[in-house]
Parts: sequence; structure tokens; C-alpha cells
Amino acid sequence: MPKPRVSICFVCLGNICRSPTAEGVFAKLVVDAGLREQIAIDSAGTGAWHKGELADKRARQEAARRGIELTSVARQFTRLDFDRHDLIIAMDRTNVADLQALARNEADRTKIKLFRAFDPLSLGDSEVPDPYYGGPEGFARVFDLCTAAGKGLLAHVRSTYGV
Ligand code: 4NP
Repeated sequence: MPKPRVSICFVCLGNICRSPTAEGVFAKLVVDAGLREQIAIDSAGTGAWHKGELADKRARQEAARRGIELTSVARQFTRLDFDRHDLIIAMDRTNVADLQALARNEADRTKIKLFRAFDPLSLGDSEVPDPYYGGPEGFARVFDLCTAAGKGLLAHVRSTYGV
């Protein structure tokens, strides 16, 4: 298999709700675009509490309802992820701040982006809100926000990396 041209890591707090959903939704967009071998996709959490766990059952159920299986296993983001990935895509501003604190240099810092900055309809509402303590509607909203932002991110990746 050829080496991917670009590698993307989605990041949230626990790596069990938002970033696995972002990863699964974006992977589907990439596969549907015929770009599976060119774009590597990963996810991680700034926290380690849920390390080793599958995505939250509510996130997996919402994704399954939309035809996507979430298979990722939670892990904590490390500084090495800055070397492995071209883009580090954060779900909210706290994730951005936590990632900035881990960044070693300007090259690391410039890789960190808010996911919803790629959604032209987000109109400055730039976060994917944490659904963990809420009801199932929060997980449906996360899925919708990830779909909209994922489309914009894919367009950005295609034009920036020539895939
Ligand atoms: P996530 O959601 O960051 O979207 O995976 C959360 C998962 C777990 C916790 C917080 C947020 N927690 O406090 O355990």
C-alpha cells in the first residue's frame, strides 16, 4: 500500500465520544471519495481515563443508526502524535489549549486546528460540544456537526495536499 500523503488525528477529552465519531464519519467520507490509501486517520484523547475502551455505547449506537461502525480504542494523545500527523483536529477550545500546552515548537502548534473551523456554516460557533453528561440528542448533534465539518475538512485536505 502506498504511504498516505496526509495524516490526521482527531482529538477530544476522553477519546470515547466526539473524536471516535469524527474519526468514523471522516473515514466514511474519505472511503466514499476513493481516498482511503492517501489519507491516514486516527484519534486520541487529551485525558487517559478511558484508555483501552471502545467508544461510548451511545456514540456507537448513533453511528450504527447512520450506517457507520465505530471501532477505535481509546488512547491518550502524546507529543509523538505531533510527529506522526500533519493535522491535529480538536473538538473544542479546551482541547486546543491542552494540545498547545503539549506542543514543543511552532511546527507542532500550527498543526492544531478546531474541527468546526472547516464548516462554512458554523458561523463562529466553533466547538463540537461534549455530549458525555447529556442525553442521546447530544450524540446525534455531535454526529451531524462532525459530518458538516468533515466535508469541509476533506475539501481543505484535497486542495492543500493535492489528494
Ligand atoms: P469525549 O467525551 O471527550 O467526547 O470523549 C467525554 C468522555 C468522558 C469524559 C468527558 C468527556 N469523562 O469525564 O470521563
